[in-house]
Amino acid sequence: KEYNVAIVGATGAVGEKMLGLLENASFPIKSLKLLASKRSAGKVKTFRGRELQIEETTEDSFEGIDIALFSAGGGITKQFSPAAIKAGAIVIDNTSAFRMDPETPLVVPEVNPEDLRKHKGLIANPNCSTIQMVVALQPIREKFGLDRVIVSTYQAVSGAGLHALEELEVQTRAVLDGEEPVANILPCGADKKHFPIAFNALPQIDVFSEGGYTYEEWKMINETKKIMGDQDIKVSATCVRIPVMSGHSESVYFEVDDKNVSVADIWEVLKDAPGVVLQDDTTNQVYPTAREAVGKNETFVGRIRKDVDVDNGFHMWVVSDNLLKGAAWNSVQIAEKMIEMGLL
Ligand code: A2P
Repeated sequence: KEYNVAIVGATGAVGEKMLGLLENASFPIKSLKLLASKRSAGKVKTFRGRELQIEETTEDSFEGIDIALFSAGGGITKQFSPAAIKAGAIVIDNTSAFRMDPETPLVVPEVNPEDLRKHKGLIANPNCSTIQMVVALQPIREKFGLDRVIVSTYQAVSGAGLHALEELEVQTRAVLDGEEPVANILPCGADKKHFPIAFNALPQIDVFSEGGYTYEEWKMINETKKIMGDQDIKVSATCVRIPVMSGHSESVYFEVDDKNVSVADIWEVLKDAPGVVLQDDTTNQVYPTAREAVGKNETFVGRIRKDVDVDNGFHMWVVSDNLLKGAAWNSVQIAEKMIEMGLL
């Protein structure tokens, strides 16, 4: 069978990656529709040797569509996903609009593919930082149990969209030219104050919420529990934006249930884990970096070591391309998994 696919937000940072993945993958596409805002209508992109015109997203855009990949912001998902579902499409949504809705499966195919069976027309793609962390933690959890996680992130600017990336470039040039950098978007377009990201580190991603945590931090906390299907795992997060274009890095501290686990035991589990590439050989300076992870679909793990004081505590460094596994690839992978499971 071949499918009629639509990308909503096809001109965005994530939408462009979706287009690239579908271009190269063996994904069975009958037709592809590129949707964005009115501003982009009429612009042309090429796909598998053909020219496709971008169209404005409207309620009538989804006639005959089987799979609609949404990545145009939560508001657009809320506005148009009901029309897409009504027209018979399966919506795979990259925004946070429905992630914590109890009726909506929140899926990372390596971790909880079975949740796809419960869908009611919409499947949510988790937050980018959460996805790469659970890909690395799930195989460890399955083997040794997982009691608590404390994560600090070093997140790339592309996660905030193409305009934020442009801001990083312009500010970097300004600083190198001896000028004052101007900030209009980061740390968060929706908040009042803006600070330069060039040559800086900003301990705010999304707006502040309960307990002094940002929404990005709450997303990592709540989404991890939902994806793993375990409300008892203790999770805490500090999310930081750094001046890297693409590729999120994370320092993850975790405690397993089993007190007799060694670093070698963790290596053994991660070396064959789905979607994971183990790069851990400090004697030869082998560890993952954002620059090397960009353009790849896997999650890279290294620097695994035992905590100095806590017997069942470990630290690791987890890196992945935030626009691919963190967004576009996880969405396309959900569609592929649904086909494989006979759900599409
Ligand atoms: P457009 O380029 O036409 O504004 P990013 O995350 O990189 O900022 O991208 C956001 C994506 O969401 C873009 O593809 C953008 O399209 C799309 N978008 C923004 N507003 C709308 C809208 N009202 N309807 C449909 N798509 C939208």
